[in-house]
Amino acid sequence: MKAPLQVKIHYFTGTGNTARAARILKQELENHGYAVTLVSVEKRHLPLPPADSVNLHVLAFPVYAGAVPQIMRQYLQRFSAGGSARFAVLAVIGDAWAGKGANRKQIPGHEGQSLREAQRLLARKGYHVHLADVVPYPANLTQIANTMAPDDQERLFQQSDAQVKAIAARLISGDTYCKPCPFAVRCWAIPLGMLYRLFGRRGLGKLYVADQTCTHCGLCARYCPVEAIFMREGFPRWTLECQGCQRCINICPSRSIQTSVVRLVAFIASIPLSFWLTRDRGKWRSPILWVSIFSFLLPLLADLTIDRMERNPTARTFLSKSFTQRYRRYREPHFHPPVDTK
Ligand SMILES: Cc1cc2nc3c(=O)[nH]c(=O)nc-3n(C[C@H](O)[C@H](O)[C@H](O)COP(=O)(O)O)c2cc1C
Ligand code: SF4
Ligand code: SF4
Repeated sequence: MKAPLQVKIHYFTGTGNTARAARILKQELENHGYAVTLVSVEKRHLPLPPADSVNLHVLAFPVYAGAVPQIMRQYLQRFSAGGSARFAVLAVIGDAWAGKGANRKQIPGHEGQSLREAQRLLARKGYHVHLADVVPYPANLTQIANTMAPDDQERLFQQSDAQVKAIAARLISGDTYCKPCPFAVRCWAIPLGMLYRLFGRRGLGKLYVADQTCTHCGLCARYCPVEAIFMREGFPRWTLECQGCQRCINICPSRSIQTSVVRLVAFIASIPLSFWLTRDRGKWRSPILWVSIFSFLLPLLADLTIDRMERNPTARTFLSKSFTQRYRRYREPHFHPPVDTK
């Protein structure tokens, strides 16, 4: 009897959408006789074995700022070079619609340059991607915007699950299709993705605050996929490791994690303040150098000051007042994140 074809689906997920897509893909491929392994990419995972033992690798990830999440980039760099395995890439995006009724359509281009970026990273290792496509699931950016109502979520799940099944059918039939990334999309997505990777994700982590309803359960720290949270005096504290995946804010059982408006204002204000402080110094040194120094020092100072203030319960109540208190929390209904047991 012929051995079944070996498939590995490597996925990173913040709130479970990508895990859902990976599960559906696994089920469909298994129904057609493939032997499929799911690999959840979290910080504690070890380097991969040589890619040769597997016939097909599927990489699945949520799109962040039109790009591949940093943790997935790091994971891809661990793949050994060369090998004969085929590769497919699945980018999971957030819903963004234009038009009404029958004319309602997902706005194109929201995946930015993520597919192209993944293909380029794999090409550096000598791998060719045979299939690269996109599927929309509910947007999870609770930190910034409210998520869609549960009824709409259900409709979108049905449509998107069908799209994942269609992608599985293409994989089975051996179709070659890579969704193109137009030049206009690359123009905004490449710089945005780079800025997000360097500063944006760290900034998002630094905007979090746990309010007084926090029960000190520590789940947010245990569930964080990159160990970006540590507990101090019973409250979580966010480090610069954050990916911005939105898991902690959405998973907290008491909805205690908010976007701190005070932190937001302080960080935004530090940019014009850096320029203002630089106004005379340019005469004897490069103004760009001074703006860079102040743009680094002022947010750091703001973080340390607000952090100190948060130790006072009354100040914490004030500092955690936020628009996110009114927002729904989002998590794919079957999603249970792997717990860091270390
Ligand atoms: C920081 C951040 C940036 C995002 N950027 C994009 C984006 O550029 N385009 C997009 O369509 N969705 C974007 N999204 C939405 C997610 O990609 C989308 O909700 C995805 O389904 C989440 O998958 P997950 O549940 O597996 O984490 C972003 C989400 C976050 C948290
Ligand atoms: S999960 Fe929520 S309640 Fe538990 S420690 Fe974190 S913020 Fe507090
Ligand atoms: S701190 Fe929260 S948003 Fe940042 S990586 Fe961890 S779980 Fe995701």
